[in-house]
Amino acid sequence: KKNIVILISGSGSNMACIVQAARREQWHKRFDAQIACVISNRPNAEGLSLADKLGLANQVLDHQLFASRQAFDAELMQLIDRWQPALVVLAGFMRILTPDFVEHYAGRMLNIHPSLLPAFTGLHTHQRAIDAGCKVAGATVHQVVAELDHGPILAQAVVPVVAGDTAQSLAARVLSQEHLLYPKAIREWLERA
Ligand code: GAR
Repeated sequence: KKNIVILISGSGSNMACIVQAARREQWHKRFDAQIACVISNRPNAEGLSLADKLGLANQVLDHQLFASRQAFDAELMQLIDRWQPALVVLAGFMRILTPDFVEHYAGRMLNIHPSLLPAFTGLHTHQRAIDAGCKVAGATVHQVVAELDHGPILAQAVVPVVAGDTAQSLAARVLSQEHLLYPKAIREWLERA
């Protein structure tokens, strides 16, 4: 069985779309794959109740209870590895990862970033795209490497930036495309696996 572990920090809408696609498209039959567990580093992440509603195993590992990034990542690695995952999916997981953690999941960890990489790594991507006068924006699914928001690009979605856009309105437009893009990119990854 190919276990997929999804890491979240917030609303978990990408996670929910991935789970729904997996069920609709019968990933368990087609790829012998299943979403095994959802893990949040934030105890109050809305995505946790969403995971409950979807009937998914879910767990919190509060990063604030750890003295260092290394200590948190080491514990997170243990939690994840209980599932012996074929794939780790970062879905709005708002943590910088240590090189050891990234190395451990090399070739089997994906991230979605709300910009057209390599433009606008880091935070506040939508406001920065608006401020730069970009006419298009979007989202990128990529393999995770040690350098933040780098790594081979697997898929991208493009949306227009329109007159009067705010960071919020643009974020909503991009997010609606993320919801299609991420399940598709994971399905393609599973097809090749
Ligand atoms: C998404 O827009 C995702 O691209 C972004 O956070 C949002 C999570 O939404 N990720 C990052 O900014 C990663 N640095 P969700 O929790 O509803 O899926």
